[in-house]
Amino acid sequence: MEKNNRRKTESPINIYAKRPKISEVISVVAHQLRHPISVIKNYLEALISQDFGKINQKQEEYLQDALYNVKRMAEHVDHLLDVSRVEEGNYALKLKPLSLEEITKPVIKDLALWIEASNCEISFKKSTEVLPKVLADPIKTREVVENLITNTIKYKKAGRGKIEISLEKKGNQILFSCKDNGIGIPREDFKKVFTKFYRSEEAMEMDPSGFGLGLYLNRAIIELSGGKIWFSKNKDFGMIFYFTLPIAKKET
Ligand SMILES: Nc1ncnc2c1ncn2[C@@H]1O[C@H](COP(=O)(O)OP(=O)(O)O)[C@@H](O)[C@H]1O
Ligand SMILES: [Mg+2]
Repeated sequence: MEKNNRRKTESPINIYAKRPKISEVISVVAHQLRHPISVIKNYLEALISQDFGKINQKQEEYLQDALYNVKRMAEHVDHLLDVSRVEEGNYALKLKPLSLEEITKPVIKDLALWIEASNCEISFKKSTEVLPKVLADPIKTREVVENLITNTIKYKKAGRGKIEISLEKKGNQILFSCKDNGIGIPREDFKKVFTKFYRSEEAMEMDPSGFGLGLYLNRAIIELSGGKIWFSKNKDFGMIFYFTLPIAKKET
């Protein structure tokens, strides 16, 4: 009798019995990690700036390495938070008219040293006319462009890497494309490319620290902005990734 009564009333045990969704767990853990990561990052930056005393070359080297890794960790945590937002249906984009050219050029500039150090060359092609603005989220669209370009650097073949970026108007859309001559993606993996945590075997060997969330989030960003994202195999080897974004209404 007592047993039955207990079942009807909500006991603390029952609260624990309700298992949280995995996206809720990810979200809570990622939020908790954000603060300590940013504290570590701030201290490392302060030490590197030598505001609190001189450091020698070896110490600087180690601190820079630690800072680089903490930044990557912060990036992974942000990606996990974004994934849980996408899955919960509350990934809010701040859409406004923006120039894709003005998003792309600074990304190329910021990556220039890495591109050179990786024995790659990059070209940027667009028609001579001024392209109309698209309606998109500036920060998130930059993330898409950045991920597509960094993937070409991370997954290059031995020898000289060639990256070709282009922008063109196609009807009421702007088409962005990013072509490389890298390792490519095996045909049998094509269906999985935009799924969470997808990484080809070769990519995992080349860069074990990757997370496989970039393209998943890129697709969410582009589709939530009313665009499309896809890829094809480059003629000989390598990949071409494309996305379109709708031209902002006032601009047409
Ligand atoms: N340009 C490319 N060339 C070859 N493989 C690629 C390219 N872009 C993406 N990939 C493959 O798709 C996977 C997922 O990419 P992404 O989601 O950006 O994750 P990550 O950059 O963490 O590896 C990569 O690990 C790689 O296997
Ligand atoms: Mg990536």
